[in-house]
Amino acid sequence: MRVEIPLYTERFGSVRINDVQRILELDSGRRRDDEKEITTIHKIEKNEIEDVEDKLAIVVPVKEEKLKLLEGVLSGIPHDCVVIVVSNSQTNPINRFKMEVDTLARFHRFTRRKMLVIHQKDPGLALAFQENKYTGILDKKEKLVRDGKAEAMVVGILLAKMVGKEFVGFVDADNYIPGAVNEYVKNFAAGFCMAESSYVMVRNSWKYKPKIYNTGIYFKKWGRISEVTNRYLNLIISNYIGFETEVIKTANSGEHALTMKLAEILKYSSGFSVEPYELLYILEEFGGIKPTNYPEVIEDGVEIFQIETRNPHFHEDKGEDHLKKMLLESLSVVYYSELCNQTIKTLILNELVSQNILKKDTFPPQLPTMPPLRSINIQNFNEKLKEAKTFTMFE
Ligand code: GDD
Repeated sequence: MRVEIPLYTERFGSVRINDVQRILELDSGRRRDDEKEITTIHKIEKNEIEDVEDKLAIVVPVKEEKLKLLEGVLSGIPHDCVVIVVSNSQTNPINRFKMEVDTLARFHRFTRRKMLVIHQKDPGLALAFQENKYTGILDKKEKLVRDGKAEAMVVGILLAKMVGKEFVGFVDADNYIPGAVNEYVKNFAAGFCMAESSYVMVRNSWKYKPKIYNTGIYFKKWGRISEVTNRYLNLIISNYIGFETEVIKTANSGEHALTMKLAEILKYSSGFSVEPYELLYILEEFGGIKPTNYPEVIEDGVEIFQIETRNPHFHEDKGEDHLKKMLLESLSVVYYSELCNQTIKTLILNELVSQNILKKDTFPPQLPTMPPLRSINIQNFNEKLKEAKTFTMFE
């Protein structure tokens, strides 16, 4: 793969946020001895990418998606990555979860690839969290894992750690184009190959998110939510560094990946606020504004890569109310961040009111957060899950 070097990097304490990097070639060919190096371009060899894929788990959160889409996503994930499907689909009256497990079993019969599948609401999973005193992920009434994509991601990270992976990435189950999924994972790997630190996050930036209208297809650049969330995250950074910046272009990037070393020390915010919150938390904790709980990270620094995909992003359109909920949750975490000053808070409230998402003189809901996963004893967690037969492993 051939990727531009980061042409511009914003520093925020020990956090390095690289501007979007474009891909020149998805496949840069065989390595040749007489090759001339181009200083502004990273050439990442196939074997380097494959080495990362061997150590990478891809978590696929799924809730009531079409099985054909799920199967397409599985087919796009490079074979050597472990796939971890975390489902919150219904089991009753129709057992959609069982259909998902059957889809995986069939896929495994023909591909023999390693996959794990678990249901987010499995009582054994909740018990394993309880026994490890990690109750921030549980619904207070049900005493099961809460609904939410972030909650599925947290379960996925733990399973990735359980099977010994060094990297963990997330790919939604409603992607229409398997070839695009394949690219997302290669981009994650490329980011890790370029990194110098062991605390790394790679976020995909969509080249286009096309919309289909009666008049034809339109290659839209920005999603409606990310455009707004990016603006407020950039305002926060600009306010601290004293220079206006537009460096954040992936505030809501669902498809992203982390080194396990970073994944296990982050806090996670519930539902769809998870992606902007990851960035905010990194800035809060490692931005030098307050003493950190992880001094070892300061030395190495946290690196954030934003890589622009070549493939356009086609996914299920879940409607207007879904988008409003997502924007409310995204701006809520910005609003309650310790980095957000009163002026930005007021701008956020005005934004939400003008978009008819919040009534005047009301405030966004404060969402639950989940503490760093490092506190969980992974051996014990693994044993508890096995005892309760919570997950199915295909290998
Ligand atoms: N396990 C689980 N539990 N999966 C869930 C849940 C849940 O409670 N809720 C949603 N999912 C799954 C969906 O089935 C899908 O595979 C993925 O999580 C994303 O959810 P969508 O509802 O399809 O979200 P979206 O496509 O509108 O938004 C995506 O893109 C945004 C950026 O444009 C998500 O990835 C967002 O997180 C992201 O910000």
